[in-house]
Order: sequence, then structure tokens, then C-alpha cells
Amino acid sequence: MFKAPRGTTDTLPEEQPYWRYIEETALEVCRLYGFKRINTPAFEEAGLFQRSVGEGTDIVNKEMYIFRDRSDNEMALRPEGTAPVCRAYLEHGMDNLPQPVKLFYFADIFRYERPQAGRYRQHHQFGCEAIGDPSPVLDAEIIYMALSFFGALGLTDFLLQVNSIGCKKCRPGHLKKLIEYYRPLKEQLCTDCLVRLEKNPLRLLDCKKPACQAAAETAPRSADYLCQECGQHFDSLQGYLTAMGIKFRLNHRLVRGLDYYTKTVFEIQPAEGGSQSAIGGGGRYDDLIAMIGGKPVPGIGFAVGLERIVLNLKTQSIKVPPAEAPAVFVACLGKDARAEAIRLSAALRGEGIPLMMSSGERSLKAQLRHANALGVKYAAIIGGDEMKAGTVMVRNMETGEQQETQPEELVALLKAGK
Ligand code: HAM
Repeated sequence: MFKAPRGTTDTLPEEQPYWRYIEETALEVCRLYGFKRINTPAFEEAGLFQRSVGEGTDIVNKEMYIFRDRSDNEMALRPEGTAPVCRAYLEHGMDNLPQPVKLFYFADIFRYERPQAGRYRQHHQFGCEAIGDPSPVLDAEIIYMALSFFGALGLTDFLLQVNSIGCKKCRPGHLKKLIEYYRPLKEQLCTDCLVRLEKNPLRLLDCKKPACQAAAETAPRSADYLCQECGQHFDSLQGYLTAMGIKFRLNHRLVRGLDYYTKTVFEIQPAEGGSQSAIGGGGRYDDLIAMIGGKPVPGIGFAVGLERIVLNLKTQSIKVPPAEAPAVFVACLGKDARAEAIRLSAALRGEGIPLMMSSGERSLKAQLRHANALGVKYAAIIGGDEMKAGTVMVRNMETGEQQETQPEELVALLKAGK
């Protein structure tokens, strides 16, 4: 027996109402904020992610699904959605459009992680990217949009954490201080952090091991080393968030797991969950487009994990609209009646009425049992008598009452849904 690969899930029909609800809510929020949809391929040249997400990150080093295709090109299943959108922005000359260009996507994302609740090897993200505008007003708008999306879903009780990690001018000064701070503490660091100290010192701050966390708590803070431009940007952002009534917590250890970020970074997590349970995160990436070969173009965005949103909808007992059930089951008796049942079904579907049509040679009793199991309210039955009269027998499955109707009456009855 084959099974779904470890860390992947099948989304069965009974789960689909959650996904549909999330998608429809996301579409509406994007409409309100003027974001347009983009789809990008599920795989890209691996170099796109190596250059942008960064060689020193877990995502690229340990988690990327990387393979050589039959022409020996090194490809990767997308481990995130921002770099592909920026690649598409460049490839399609979107810098000629009015800026910022606002794009959103639903994408399946592949990361070879250790599977656990809310952590998968294939997960799904809804993401938004606003490319081409450096203003902190946009940072505030993007954060507000992410929160509005959760609000529109009915989710409450979230913690918004914000930090600024500076830019290529001021970050080296902070990194130097971090290295000086951590060098004497090598003994207490985990083996991963010892590598981070050499390759990517910022990552030391978000290690989840208790000893490393204790060290990170008193480590030099990026916000204390910002250049004038980054400092002003961060101050303005906080001012806008406050003016918009958005509660946030400054977290100097929030650095995010992708190297392309500059200035603003943020994460949203359930008030009850730990840092591993973030349902969304994002930030500014003013150098990303230059990293992948374009002129420098600033950008900011966020993405949310759909599986984690489904989990939160369930834990917060939020009711979502149920899937539409068939309005009627079309049953028939005999070969001639079958042709008539097929015609009737087509006509009803043409009127927009969802239905299930009986197939196979079964007794009326068996067909009605099937209708009952489906939970439909009505069965429309065509037998010899109905054929002759050009009518349909309608059975109310709840009361067992039967009534002969004209096809037009049946349409009216089913549309009224009574
Ligand atoms: P990220 O924080 O790596 O950011 O992922 C975004 C969200 O995807 C997370 O907050 C989490 O809800 C969900 N997620 C991440 N990994 C998993 C997993 N293994 N299983 C289930 N859910 C997961 C990014 O990917 C950036 N591209 C976001 C962004 C957009 N930044 C700027 N624009």
C-alpha cells in the first residue's frame, strides 16, 4: 500500500470548506487592498533561492528539495514564494508599471523539515508582495492587511512582533558586536550555533535551544545599531502602527529565517502558541531584486501558512460555511426512464441545481437508500407512469411524502429549497 509521503497531507472533501473559506476571505482582502493574483512555477532554478534566501540559512542548506533535471540543470521545489514573485517582476518588466506593484499568490511550499503538528514538508501559503516603494507607510499597510485578514476570518488573540534588522550599511556594525559578544560564550552554544557564529551570526538570535536563548536575551540588539535612515524608518513604522491602533511587541530576537530581509521584519503568532507556531510573517526586502540580478527595487510582503490557519480556526471553534450538498437525487426505473433521467438531470443542472444522478441497475429501494445516505432532501423519480405522463414523482426524503409534478414545478421547488 502506498501512503502520502511523510510530512504531506491529503486535504479530504470534509476539510475543503475551511480551505474555501480561507481562500475566499483572502481574495476579498486582496480586492480591498488592490492586490492582483500571480501564479509562479512550483520549481525554479535552485540559484534563485541560494542567492536570495541565502546559503547560510536552514531553508537553503538543510530543507530545500533540490534536484538535477534530465538536462542537468539544478532545480529546487520552491521553499518560499517571495523570490519567485520578484523573479517574475523582473522577467516581465513590471518595473515599468506604476509602483508599487501589488501581487498575491496561493502556493504550495516545500521544505524538508521534521514533521510535527503544524509543520509539514509540503505546506500552503497565501502571500502578498508590494514591490517598488520604500516608504514605511507601506510597511504599516502590509502589517495592517495581514491583521485584517485574520480579523476577517474571525480569528482573535494574536501577538504581533516587530523588529528592524537594518540594511547593508548598518548591519555589519551589529554583526561585529554580535560576534564579539558570542565568542566568549562558545562553550554554552549548540553545535548549530557554532556554525552560525562563523557563517550567519544573526541566526544565533532565533535558536530555539534554551542555553542559546538565554545567551540571545542579552545579546546586542539590531535596533541599537541602525543607521539614520533605518532608524527613521523604524520610528515612522512604529508611529503609524500606533496611530492605526495596532498593538505590537518589539522583539529584538526576531530575525526571521531568510537572508533577504532588510529593515522591518514581523511575525504573527497565536497568543497561546510558542515561537514555532507563527501563522504568518514577513518583512521588507529592499536588496532582494538586486541579489537576483535586477536594479535595486525595494519590496515588502508577508505570507501566512494555510494549514496553521485551519488549525487555529478549529481551536477557536470558528464555523465556516459548509460545502453545498446536492439538492436532489434523480432515480429511475427501467431503460427508457434512464434516458429521461439523464435529460432531466442535464436540465436541472442547466438551471444551476446541484444533484446526484443514480447510475447502475438498482431497485428503487436501493436507489432511495443511496439518496438517504447522501442526506438529500428530495428524490426525483422517473418510472413508466411518469414517462407516459411527462411528469416526475418528487419524494420528500424527510417525510416520505410523494407528489407528481411537472418538470418546471420541480425546478421551482428545488430553487426555493423548501
Ligand atoms: P515564512 O515565515 O518562512 O516566510 O513562512 C510563512 C508562514 O508559512 C509561516 O508563518 C508559517 O505559518 C507557514 N509555514 C512555514 N513553514 C511551514 C511548515 N513547514 N509547515 C506549515 N506551515 C509553515 C516566508 O516564507 C516568506 N516568503 C514570507 C514573506 C513574504 N516575506 C516577505 N514576503
